[in-house]
Amino acid sequence: MDKQFALPALALGCWPLAGMTRTGVTRQAAKETVAAAIDHGITHLDTAYCYGEDGESERAIAQAIKGRRDAISIASKCGIHWQAGKKQVVNGHPDRLIQEVKESLFRLQVDHLDLLYLHTPDPKIPIQESAGALRRLLDEGTIQAAGLSNGNTDDCKLFAETCPLTACQRHFNMLQQEICSELLPYCRSKEIAMVAYWPLMKGLLTGRMKRDQVFPKTDSRHKYPMFNGDEFQKNLTFVETIQTIATQLDISLSSLVLAWTMGQEGISTVLFGATNAEQVAANATALYCSLDHNTVSAINEAVRQRGTVLGGRKA
Ligand SMILES: NC(=O)c1ccc[n+]([C@@H]2O[C@H](COP(=O)([O-])OP(=O)(O)OC[C@H]3O[C@@H](n4cnc5c(N)ncnc54)[C@H](OP(=O)(O)O)[C@@H]3O)[C@@H](O)[C@H]2O)c1
Repeated sequence: MDKQFALPALALGCWPLAGMTRTGVTRQAAKETVAAAIDHGITHLDTAYCYGEDGESERAIAQAIKGRRDAISIASKCGIHWQAGKKQVVNGHPDRLIQEVKESLFRLQVDHLDLLYLHTPDPKIPIQESAGALRRLLDEGTIQAAGLSNGNTDDCKLFAETCPLTACQRHFNMLQQEICSELLPYCRSKEIAMVAYWPLMKGLLTGRMKRDQVFPKTDSRHKYPMFNGDEFQKNLTFVETIQTIATQLDISLSSLVLAWTMGQEGISTVLFGATNAEQVAANATALYCSLDHNTVSAINEAVRQRGTVLGGRKA
């Protein structure tokens, strides 16, 4: 483990590969998606113990990175697992975390993780205890850096009392900028990297969704307010506005959206998800896309006009 770990500006999020946003993502498609990302210059892969009921995401990564481990860094997460019946369980007990990491290493067929996040604080366990497990893994060299996902500022402070905190991971996109009020300024002040997930708002900001879109029951997006009713229609109106900007610049909408997100002050890394090599190719062009002041202002004005969006899942 002699290479120095550094987070790049753009990375592949490997959640959709598990076939849990929508079904039908084959192991082969998952493997090809990861391989395409590496071919297109993506050097960081983000996964988690719970991405797939049987670690499908980590297993697909293992197949895709054979012979290429040194070219990439891998982040995984621990602290959430599945019980029968697709029931998600949060468990931040140190013993459980250590056991999950062992299993992640086995599935990924690697001897260390470059970055390990506590997936989410467990309300039943003091976060310092969970952080203690990551500290142990850090000290013994099983992980190169530790992070916290889905935590708030207080969680970060408590976590950092026990374990050096390198990165925070939270959702952030054009329409969901809640972290800007407190967590992002805090991370900047402490030089903690901010890793943004859902930059494409789970596909909505790619322009592929239709006004009469119907998500099958097996597609988890039907559970989110942003994909339902009036909220969804307002979001699509916003997408039409930014599509006009992308068309004027002759770039893809996903490229415009990712480039804008990468350009936001304090955002260290943007994690985009994808389910095939074509999506990866379109999204990776954001690496070469820089937006001028007028474009950024036009996007920000469209965001302002859209106003506050509803975020979380339905009850
Ligand atoms: N820490 C956490 O709790 C947490 C939570 C969520 C996500 N994450 C991480 O963040 C990553 C990103 O989030 P995400 O994958 O949920 O959402 P996302 O990046 O906002 O959207 C990904 C989805 O957008 C669609 N898409 C991507 N590129 C496209 C293109 N060029 N054209 C058309 N459609 C395109 C795909 O939909 P289809 O599936 O329909 O093809 C894909 O599944 C995850 O993969 C994961 O690594 C972390």
